[in-house]
Amino acid sequence: MSQDSPASERRYHPVAKALHWLVALLVALQFGIAWTMPDIGPHTKLGRLISLHLTVGALIGLAVLVRISWRLRHSAPGAIATEPRWLRLGARMTHGTLYVLLLIVPLLGWAAASARGWQVSLLPRLILPALLPRGSKSGFLAGDVHAFLAYALLAIVALHIAAALYHRIILHDQVLARMLPRKASTLGTPDST
Ligand code: HEM
Ligand code: HEM
Repeated sequence: MSQDSPASERRYHPVAKALHWLVALLVALQFGIAWTMPDIGPHTKLGRLISLHLTVGALIGLAVLVRISWRLRHSAPGAIATEPRWLRLGARMTHGTLYVLLLIVPLLGWAAASARGWQVSLLPRLILPALLPRGSKSGFLAGDVHAFLAYALLAIVALHIAAALYHRIILHDQVLARMLPRKASTLGTPDST
């Protein structure tokens, strides 16, 4: 999109912002748990931290489903007129990849947990069905791919954060501000609406 949008469309909707920051927070927490939980081998028992990893992962999956279904019905703010085309295109590709990984990573984790015979609960009494039978070989493979893609997600999130900072520090535009809470986004920005 090369045209600037009306001022009313220059910010993300509060629901989009809330879901964005909720998912970002949960993903950060999830890596914290993944890096502190015991290494997972063939005979690892389901301890407290691993169990927390499964529940937080299931919450991420749910939040991402809500986010995507909301996003499909509400478009994002239009491009900022000064934004270079290559950057806009790069942002689209990055955001698309983030959504895909945010869906696939929890699904593979769920499959891996099922293969180990671990129950995944969203809430203490809300247990999700197993995706694969206990002992399934493809479930163990899913575990390896899960861990690999989780690091791919981390790498793309790092690129995404670098792009947000590039907008703010080098281009001095409103791209970061329109994803921040309204109060924070008006602090020190040149032409907030
Ligand atoms: C975006 C969400 C998620 C992220 C970022 C994530 C991240 C990770 C990471 C980094 C590891 C590797 C830990 C290590 O190096 O030892 C891991 C392992 C694992 N995660 Fe997740 N995870 C997510 C969601 C889930 C979900 C939803 C489940 C299950 C319901 C799950 C189940 C597992 C299991 C079973 C393993 C061990 C895999 C294996 O080696 O077989 N994860 N996760
Ligand atoms: C796990 C962490 C994160 C994930 C998974 C994530 C994911 C996403 C996704 C999927 C979008 C596209 C929204 C849409 O149009 O539908 C987006 C937008 C955005 N994110 Fe993040 N994000 C994360 C962290 C961050 C952080 C830490 C920052 C700030 C430093 C940030 C700044 C932004 C901005 C400014 C936009 C709007 C970009 C634009 O309008 O072109 N994000 N994010």
